[in-house]
Amino acid sequence: MGRLFSKVAIVTGAGMGIGRAIALKFASEGACVAAADLDTAALESVTSEIRAAGGTALPLIADVTVKADVDRIVERTFAEWGAIDVLVTSAGICQETEFLAITEEEWDRHLAVNLKGTFLISQQTARTMVECGTRGSIIHISSVNGMQGEANQAHYNVSKAGVNLLTMSMAVELGRAGIRVNAICPGFIQTRLTQALIDQPSLIREYLKSVPLGRVGQPEEVANMALFLASYESNYVSGQTLVIDGGQLNKLA
Ligand SMILES: NC(=O)c1ccc[n+]([C@@H]2O[C@H](COP(=O)([O-])OP(=O)(O)OC[C@H]3O[C@@H](n4cnc5c(N)ncnc54)[C@H](O)[C@@H]3O)[C@@H](O)[C@H]2O)c1
Repeated sequence: MGRLFSKVAIVTGAGMGIGRAIALKFASEGACVAAADLDTAALESVTSEIRAAGGTALPLIADVTVKADVDRIVERTFAEWGAIDVLVTSAGICQETEFLAITEEEWDRHLAVNLKGTFLISQQTARTMVECGTRGSIIHISSVNGMQGEANQAHYNVSKAGVNLLTMSMAVELGRAGIRVNAICPGFIQTRLTQALIDQPSLIREYLKSVPLGRVGQPEEVANMALFLASYESNYVSGQTLVIDGGQLNKLA
């Protein structure tokens, strides 16, 4: 029996990268997975892969910045399975721009997807958990960039710092209802977001000098940490920002 047997999980950004790896991992551990994403083709691909492996998935096309879409994710998931035990917020964007060149539109979009989107789905899911008396687990996919000021990503860094404080604030308030809220802060993970750098051998060789483990992380490694936070094994862990970065942040500090 899987570690998430009979649990219901919502995963945003489930179409690609880290969210996709988490959706696949959770389904393989027995969870019913509501997979939400903007990208219809990516969503079809991940839900068919889950079903082909014998798992259970519900694809939900949604933009996490739109409150009506977010409310629909929660309503549809609850209508389908009658509970929501776990939420993972992985939908996110990161576009590199020098501080002096960041436009108002870029700033607003990063804050809207990464921070407001995380707030909207977390609040609506937590309301359902509280109403149902579910002692659930909410997992935000944040970033080490929420803890340090990496160049050319001021808008992204700020959005993730906001996610880290949202995590702590929610954990304080929702703890009384038995709901745990944690953030995972990945370092450099191989996904669409980072592929352009990985494809440049001399640049990536230079970059990896800052990573003590000397390699890029994989989405499945982040999924393993999410599985721990979703399962009973982390029952006394809340309000934490867990770093998974091959030791990079420690080295920079
Ligand atoms: N890849 C890394 O190195 C890295 C490091 C730290 C943190 N992260 C964080 O991990 C999360 C996932 O990133 P990834 O690397 O897997 O990227 P990705 O681009 O591979 O996947 C992101 C997914 O989110 C979806 N998405 C984007 N905007 C959306 C919206 N408004 N509504 C719904 N879905 C939306 C995309 O369609 C895509 O499927 C992000 O929050 C990112 O900030 C990634």
